Amino acid sequence: MFGKKKQTPSIDKDQLELIENAQKRIKQKKRLYIHFVVFLIGAVFLIIANTVLGIGEDFKIADINWFVYAILAWLFLFVYHFVNVFITNKFMSKDWEKQQLDRLVAKQQQRIDQLKANLLKEETKIAKIQMKEETQSSKISSVKNKSELTIIVAAGENNAIGKDNDLIWHLSDDLKRFKRLTNGHHIIMGRKTFESFPKPLPNRIHVVITRQKDYKAPEGVIVVNSMADALDAARKDDNPFIIGGGEIYKQAMPIASKLEITRVHSIFDDADTFFPEINTSIWKEISRTTHDADEKHAHAFSFITYDRK
Ligand SMILES: NC(=O)c1ccc[n+]([C@@H]2O[C@H](COP(=O)([O-])OP(=O)(O)OC[C@H]3O[C@@H](n4cnc5c(N)ncnc54)[C@H](OP(=O)(O)O)[C@@H]3O)[C@@H](O)[C@H]2O)c1
Repeated sequence: MFGKKKQTPSIDKDQLELIENAQKRIKQKKRLYIHFVVFLIGAVFLIIANTVLGIGEDFKIADINWFVYAILAWLFLFVYHFVNVFITNKFMSKDWEKQQLDRLVAKQQQRIDQLKANLLKEETKIAKIQMKEETQSSKISSVKNKSELTIIVAAGENNAIGKDNDLIWHLSDDLKRFKRLTNGHHIIMGRKTFESFPKPLPNRIHVVITRQKDYKAPEGVIVVNSMADALDAARKDDNPFIIGGGEIYKQAMPIASKLEITRVHSIFDDADTFFPEINTSIWKEISRTTHDADEKHAHAFSFITYDRK
């Protein structure tokens, strides 16, 4: 009624073999039964032939009529037949048993081969991941060892740095300082920060980090897929800058050697992006310049430089 799917009987080779063997078994039992009936009739016939019809009446061995020996010999054959069918179960030949065994061994071998292949695949995968991780960390450590890596950021008292993929304030002296410090250097940024610029900043090499494999950027902008690759792209620069945003700052904090913070002395509650907390047991303040609010600057702010302890 509800469009029930029609069942198509499917019997595999093994099932077919089992059915054939069951049929053989039935036939064998049947033959044994027929043998028994023929034996009974034959025995009666032999007795009648000898005693009633007088066939071989005089032929006796050890004073016993020949039909007794004939019946005993037949009985022996019948018992042998019976033993074959019910005790030794010879109906399945040795060849068949060997065939089954070979098939089982072949199946197990197949499973072992499959397991080996899977193991090899796993090992190769793990080796590749380890190699990638080693390459990434060696890229990071080669930059860390050779040069300075500076994080530059402007953050409110509550660490606010942005809202709706834009800055929250406009502080012209802060922008001037940013331009002066990063001038001529590689500036490493997340894809979102890059997209918040109207166009690439002059006289700086932009390194944009994205997970997108086919991200299109204007000519001259270097696009990479990881922080390690970004540092590798900037390896010839003795002081590349990490310029944001929130995601990238978080990833760069453990590897940066210097922080150039513009601390904006206000709290921005409506921000959606934040700078990580600065841990003063790791970072040492080495300089601070304070700037009051004025007609060009809506907020007071301080330029603070931290070095890794
Ligand atoms: N106050 C400041 O000094 C300052 C400075 C810079 C930015 N900002 C502000 O910060 C906000 C943007 O920050 P955000 O955190 O939203 O974004 P973001 O850090 O600029 O960029 C995030 C993007 O970077 C890519 N990315 C991050 N980690 C990656 C990794 N490990 N491997 C590959 N790609 C990776 C991803 O790009 P895909 O999605 O393409 O894969 C991710 O979506 C804006 O409001 C901006 O104005 C403030």
